[in-house]
Amino acid sequence: PVLVVDFGAQYAQLIARRVREANVYSEVVPHTITADEVRAKNPQAIVLSGGPASVYAEDAPSFDAEIFSLGLPMFGICYGFQTMAVALGGEVARTGRREYGSTQVQLTDEAQASSLLVGQPADQIVWMSHGDSVARAPEGFTVLASTADTPVAAFANEERKLYGVQWHPEVLHSEHGQRVIEAFLLNSAGLAADWSPASIIDEQVARIREQIGEDEVICGLSGGVDSAVAAALVQRAVGERLTCVFVDHGLLRQDERRQVEEDYVKATGVRLVTVDAREQFLSELAGVTDPETKRKIIGREFIRVFESTAASLVEESKHDSVPGEIKFLVQGTLYPDVVESGGGSGTANIKSHHNVGGLPEDMTFELVEPLRALFKDEVRAIGRELGVPEVIVARQPFPGPGLGIRIIGEVTQDRLDLLREADAIVREELTAAGLDAQIWQCPVVLLADVRSVGVQGDGRTYGHPIVLRPVSSEDAMTADWTRLPYDVVARISNRITNEVEGVNRVVLDVTSKPPGTIEWE
Ligand code: XMP
Repeated sequence: PVLVVDFGAQYAQLIARRVREANVYSEVVPHTITADEVRAKNPQAIVLSGGPASVYAEDAPSFDAEIFSLGLPMFGICYGFQTMAVALGGEVARTGRREYGSTQVQLTDEAQASSLLVGQPADQIVWMSHGDSVARAPEGFTVLASTADTPVAAFANEERKLYGVQWHPEVLHSEHGQRVIEAFLLNSAGLAADWSPASIIDEQVARIREQIGEDEVICGLSGGVDSAVAAALVQRAVGERLTCVFVDHGLLRQDERRQVEEDYVKATGVRLVTVDAREQFLSELAGVTDPETKRKIIGREFIRVFESTAASLVEESKHDSVPGEIKFLVQGTLYPDVVESGGGSGTANIKSHHNVGGLPEDMTFELVEPLRALFKDEVRAIGRELGVPEVIVARQPFPGPGLGIRIIGEVTQDRLDLLREADAIVREELTAAGLDAQIWQCPVVLLADVRSVGVQGDGRTYGHPIVLRPVSSEDAMTADWTRLPYDVVARISNRITNEVEGVNRVVLDVTSKPPGTIEWE
């Protein structure tokens, strides 16, 4: 793999994505990794990410300088660039000048002779975010670029295959950013662009077979992309020994159950058990308003349903090969779920995704999570390759805890019915307006504890607001609110206030992520 060293913030995840977009496999590792640990991973190249700190700060993220001597191609970005400069005898100055945002960078003549920037325009716009800057490149390094404020904005040592840029090539605001990353990987480091959906499938199928051996396995199917693709991978690996379980927890949107029972099963022929757990979830959620508590309860009840289903499958011995127990559970956990639940290095627990931080401690299943290192777009590509129907692969994300975390306040049957109705209207109108492909997802949220005065017909109403939260995103790690056409917003608002009893106001969430998360809880 290519190792992306994480110096904090979320730059490393984005870089890992960009490397994979160049069809090269990448993994994020913490900055505390040692030279020995690097050797053990046998990487082909290393990218040092940016980070929020100054290399001179007391708590500056450390880095084992011996790694620079392993003979591996290395590429430092922003903080990683400065770390490389300091470690190899260059000089980083506290200029006191901060470069932030779009910046004009000028390539030197030497850049055209470098493997990193060859063929690139001499003047380009890049995205900068730094305080300190490299004042002098280490010995043996050639300066490849500068800006008005920064004499050394990029450097290279072709002989040692060490490279660095001050700017952030991973963000879209850097005009030729992806080209720089690809040049490092394919040109400077000489790697092959052979990481593809087909190669991921082969690798995961082999891993799943090794993990599961001759055992039986069950998979929770939610109707969403992730669990569908995880199930398809496992089905390819172990065939008939997979049983899928669809848990109807009552927190679903309209038509969800039918989609799984019909679309997915028809396309894949997988064995499906549907469990009606609506009462169980509702009674466990009664009286609960705290978001993390809701998430933990939902995560726990999912597992309880899988446990009892596994037990009854064994009991019924539906098919001959069922052994004494089913100890493997497949989950469609993705990389961002892991990172946001605090599983990434040095990242805070923002919220407990039901299938990661929300799992009960006494769970005895061994998890099979073939998508744990992947981003959504990669999962979609794999799904298509595996023949998962397009109606499922192209679906917008819907969280496992469902409408339970879109009712702000206690979850009750009446509130669920109301929100389901409003959500169906929103989805219908967005689809009718041809907007599905532009929107990452559009949570519809019921502010169940908020009421406002309205007037409908001739009378006063005292109803609840519905929030529309349309977002655009590449991977749900960051997002912007989608600028929906006003006429579509108006139509949705009219329909909801007219058709959904109890709602007298529709509001639009115009917050990006960060600072807001996509879901309200
Ligand atoms: P946030 O709200 O953290 O959401 O910005 C990021 C993405 O993750 C989805 N999400 C979840 N998905 N289980 C899931 O399967 C969960 O517990 C969960 N919580 C949030 C959310 O819909 C968005 O796509």
